[in-house]
Amino acid sequence: MPAATFNVPFLLGMMRLHESPAMHDPELLADWIEARLEQGLHWFDHADIYGNGQGETLFGAALRARPALAQRVNIVTKASIANDNPEPGSGKVKHYNASPAYLNSAIDASLARLNVERLDHFLIHRPDLLMDAEATGRALDDAIEAGKIGAAGISNHLPSQWRRLQGAMHQRLSANQIELSIAHTTPLFDGSFDELCADGHAPMAWSPLAGGQLMQGAVGDCLAKWATELDSSPSALALAWLRSLPNSPVPVIGSVKPERISDMLKGPATLPREVWYELLEAARGHCVA
Ligand SMILES: NC(=O)c1ccc[n+]([C@@H]2O[C@H](COP(=O)([O-])OP(=O)(O)OC[C@H]3O[C@@H](n4cnc5c(N)ncnc54)[C@H](OP(=O)(O)O)[C@@H]3O)[C@@H](O)[C@H]2O)c1
Repeated sequence: MPAATFNVPFLLGMMRLHESPAMHDPELLADWIEARLEQGLHWFDHADIYGNGQGETLFGAALRARPALAQRVNIVTKASIANDNPEPGSGKVKHYNASPAYLNSAIDASLARLNVERLDHFLIHRPDLLMDAEATGRALDDAIEAGKIGAAGISNHLPSQWRRLQGAMHQRLSANQIELSIAHTTPLFDGSFDELCADGHAPMAWSPLAGGQLMQGAVGDCLAKWATELDSSPSALALAWLRSLPNSPVPVIGSVKPERISDMLKGPATLPREVWYELLEAARGHCVA
């Protein structure tokens, strides 16, 4: 079930969208979205905090400029980080909020900014230690039943945290977005990746290139060597490394540059076992078996 949830080689992360001046023109962004759809990339990963709402607002303006696109895109968005980047001296405290009132208002605000009728997946971005699981679970069930969100999921939660929430819900938690890359393998060794697979969540890997860091050093050299050997590209192989894992985690990439996105499509779905382990060895700096 999870591998088929997204049915794309990777999702397009929107965290850096607002940083690109060209994306501030709705027509140019609509062209960019259309070009991605033509490449078969139709999932876009947002959050209310990206650019302090600007990422979703720009995306929504592009959909308004070209309404036919709204039927062709799929949206993931997230919320629970409150007062992100408060002004020094404002007295505001950055915190997490997964209360029904906060999440309901975040869902409505994202729907309005993005100019869509439904959020395909809505994720609780970070765990709120004060969450009342019964109340939050009911709010997520209600949002699904109202058709505002297609499914509810989590990001960056411990298994005990998502199970407490799941225990209070009728609907199944769908997707689970975690930090995972050749450079960040903690979930593979602490059991949490196995637990999300066992619970039937579709795994999503954020920062699949470790923010670009993977392209350098020993891992970068190893990726470059195999890219030549396999007629691929280093970034495409880094994504194939993730998809080779059980339940085929879907990478959520960060670059919005068309040439880099095209490069990431030039790869096999998965890697041969020895290549996979050679990359892990390069990252860890020692034999891993
Ligand atoms: N759930 C969460 O808590 C969470 C946290 C962080 C991120 N995310 C999601 O994950 C997405 C990806 O995060 P990320 O930006 O850290 O991912 P990433 O794909 O690991 O890193 C992207 C960065 O790598 C740079 N880069 C350097 N060489 C590259 C190459 N050869 N090919 C492609 N990129 C290269 C890019 O630069 P250029 O921009 O110059 O191309 C960009 O700055 C975000 O957009 C967001 O949707 C989720």
